[in-house]
Amino acid sequence: MPRTSYPKEKIRVVLLENIHPKAAAMLRGEGFSVETTSGSPDGAKLLKLVEDAHVLGIRSKTQLTRDVLGASKRLLAVGCFCIGTDQVHLGAARSAGVPVFNAPFCNTRSVAELTIAEAIGLTRQLTTKSEQMHKGVWDKNASGAHEVRGRTLGIVGYGHIGSQVSVLAEAMGMRVLFYDVLPKLAMGNARPVRSLSELLKESDIVTLHVPSNASTKNLIGAKQLASMRKGACLINNARGGVVDLDALVESLRSGHLSGAALDVFPDEPSANGQEFISVVRGVPNVILTPHIGGSTEEAQEAIGLDVAEKLVKFVNVGTTTGAVNVPEVELPAQDAREDTGAARRHRVLHFHRNVPGVLSTMHQRIAALGANISGEHLRTQDDLGYVVLDMDPTDGKRVHEAVRSIPETIRCRVLW
Ligand code: NAI
Repeated sequence: MPRTSYPKEKIRVVLLENIHPKAAAMLRGEGFSVETTSGSPDGAKLLKLVEDAHVLGIRSKTQLTRDVLGASKRLLAVGCFCIGTDQVHLGAARSAGVPVFNAPFCNTRSVAELTIAEAIGLTRQLTTKSEQMHKGVWDKNASGAHEVRGRTLGIVGYGHIGSQVSVLAEAMGMRVLFYDVLPKLAMGNARPVRSLSELLKESDIVTLHVPSNASTKNLIGAKQLASMRKGACLINNARGGVVDLDALVESLRSGHLSGAALDVFPDEPSANGQEFISVVRGVPNVILTPHIGGSTEEAQEAIGLDVAEKLVKFVNVGTTTGAVNVPEVELPAQDAREDTGAARRHRVLHFHRNVPGVLSTMHQRIAALGANISGEHLRTQDDLGYVVLDMDPTDGKRVHEAVRSIPETIRCRVLW
């Protein structure tokens, strides 16, 4: 086997919080040493784990503060095996040249499927009928029950989830309208509309798939609800702040809206077992779920594989595609030079302070060692630069020393 820059079995990966086992399997398959634990340690225990880890995998509970990250001696990358990354001090990781990866789109389909289930559930009053049956009430009648076929679904926010909902809804014979602040390619026969108010007026079911930000805060309030069709339904699987719940309850109780499905709320309990307190409790034909839109075993597995793959690509190749806090660079594999046979090219991975002259200093130092640069990739983002240089096989240790000692260097690795 050719000598490598760092033995893979010495790369210590620590996966906390019961991350899907397929992630550990993929990382072990790469030859890394992987340690897994189900809990989310804090305090001294977490510091100890961070201190020795090359790669740290967490979900949403473990708080990687500036201090915790500061305790690391050899951390190369963090994998958030979830959607959000606010549990990590991204700035501290960035200034240490530690990319943070997550899996923003692995639960897209899960949310889309739940949305479709709710569209049918609401138009057939499924939860109301089921509740009655559990109480022993047999009430067989068709009044107010509809097929979704032929009805109009209005999708607000035509991004990853919204466009998947569009595909599934059309497959069931629904007419699909959508409204997005950006121009979006329509799937199938879906039709974009020019304004939210146009969408609200024309739809039998309105489903929200927008991000949470200042422009979407209370996007659906009393005025918007009043402009919806009588008997229409509202689905919110996006974020709690997008709907004014008091206004929604009033619209439902007045009989203007016939039903709603809510998976997200302005105030959600922070842990299982805590009471869910909300004005929407007890309102008829309202489906309530505890923020489980993206929570399926399939999504967990997909998240495990997605983040593990991003970590593998970064450790082995230097690719930062999908990182949320450093410039993204997609890199080719480190191939061998065709005319020299077996030896892999050397690759310098260099995070540095983004000031003029760093690149030319690198070139000069590498040229002084007689090494030939065969490829170069550079991306900068504000104060941070990430440059990757491929070189014909050379003396990796000397190159490493020459580049690492450039004053603007934040982090330098050389792979061969
Ligand atoms: P995305 O970023 O792919 O799509 C969002 C779309 O909304 C974009 O096309 C954007 O241009 C559009 N948009 C932004 N502001 C808008 C406005 N004011 N009016 C109309 N359109 C607007 O996001 P993705 O992945 O589709 O997620 C959508 C929402 O679903 C997010 O809020 C996300 O947090 C939430 N979500 C909820 C989950 C759950 O468990 N219930 C799981 C995953 C995501």
